[in-house]
Amino acid sequence: MKLFNSQSEYGLLAKLFHWVTFIVLIAQVPFGFYLVGLEFSDERIDLENIHILVGITVFYVTLFRLIWKFLNPSPFETKSFFKGQVFIGKANHFLLYLTIFTITISGILKKLYMGERLNFIFFKYGFEKDNFVLADAYYEVHIYANYLLIALVTLHILAVIVHHLIFKDKILNKIT
Ligand code: HEM
Ligand code: HEM
Repeated sequence: MKLFNSQSEYGLLAKLFHWVTFIVLIAQVPFGFYLVGLEFSDERIDLENIHILVGITVFYVTLFRLIWKFLNPSPFETKSFFKGQVFIGKANHFLLYLTIFTITISGILKKLYMGERLNFIFFKYGFEKDNFVLADAYYEVHIYANYLLIALVTLHILAVIVHHLIFKDKILNKIT
């Protein structure tokens, strides 16, 4: 299996980025919803710290993934079954990346505006002052971006099913 993408297939690194992010996100989204329902306790603080560390890791992974995509473009789309199909696919991928950044950055800003110091793995950082109005606003963004992610991933998976059952172009082979 090749490390780099080819014209017809994603390379090993792009595949790893895709599936590792998928596995982490299907755990992290329900984990976030579970977290907000918990009573205040030491266990809740520990779980929130795990949520934050996983979220910041997803931020870095997505950043590296995009740098890799920039250096090594994705497989070229040759077949198209209707007008605008390639554009819709690209728009879905673009919005998925944008939503992942929105979720992670809004989570980070919420905590920083709460006046907390965050562990960014390579360094620690905190704002000098808190601002609870902005913290609440970024938290709203965090929640709505998660709903958007669920909608985009649903569309993404439906598209794969349509490709397999109707277009019969075995699109999954590109990324598995
Ligand atoms: C959290 C869930 C997921 C996210 C965030 C996600 C995100 C993405 C992104 C951003 C791309 C574009 C890669 C690029 O060229 O830069 C992509 C491609 C792809 N994904 Fe997913 N994905 C998810 C789940 C899935 C699942 C469950 C499947 C299979 C059922 C799947 C199948 C594919 C396929 C086949 C492609 C290649 C599409 C093409 O190049 O035309 N993805 N995914
Ligand atoms: C892939 C990344 C992430 C996903 C998918 C995610 C998802 C979620 C979800 C679904 C919630 C529940 C929202 C609600 O219904 O109220 C939540 C809560 C939260 N998230 Fe995230 N999140 C991510 C990253 C982050 C990051 C990077 C931070 C901070 C640095 C963060 C901080 C928080 C906080 C503080 C809460 C609220 C917990 C509480 O009740 O106090 N998240 N997250």
